[in-house]
Amino acid sequence: MSIIMMFVLAYLIGSISPGLIIGKTFFNKDIRNYGSGNLGATNTFRVLGRQAGIVVTLLDMAKGVIGALLPILFHSDVHGILVGLFAVLGHVFSIFLKFKGGKAVATSAGVVLAVNPLLFIITAITFFSVLYAYKYVSLASIIASIINFIAAIAFSDWIVTVISFVIMVIVIVRHRSNINRIMNHEEPKIKWM
Ligand code: G3P
Repeated sequence: MSIIMMFVLAYLIGSISPGLIIGKTFFNKDIRNYGSGNLGATNTFRVLGRQAGIVVTLLDMAKGVIGALLPILFHSDVHGILVGLFAVLGHVFSIFLKFKGGKAVATSAGVVLAVNPLLFIITAITFFSVLYAYKYVSLASIIASIINFIAAIAFSDWIVTVISFVIMVIVIVRHRSNINRIMNHEEPKIKWM
């Protein structure tokens, strides 16, 4: 498979929204109309409950894992993180949802897990530490994306570092409304940690 076709396939996989599909199929709810309105795992937890939240987290992550592993699957030597980035872009700017989508967190985590498990562990520890301390998923996501980039400088190659920077920018930009809510003390905290 050509590199371009791999990018397209990863983008299409990323464009599928488990949060929307599961909400509409099993709960008769469009999660875009509830909670933060986001199509990600956090809003699925918030609107549809823990079970659905866990499933959507895993499926959103799986999109990133599959995207990043496409080069291995198709015997290509293009770097997995480059193809994985297209899964993240699909998740954020879905072709099936008029180029709207989630905030890049779980799918990016899947990409990082597939290309550099050490980076994933550092980023996951950061995420859960910030979440435990402040109870804001959004803040934990933003800080984790920054630490992921810094850790990539130390523990990865240049291409993972560059794409980690791109992912960090996407995550921060997509969390603009969360940042405003945090500053106005209006961001909901999680209650289960
Ligand atoms: O995964 C996105 C998370 O960081 C924030 O989601 O729904 O609280 O805007 P949400």
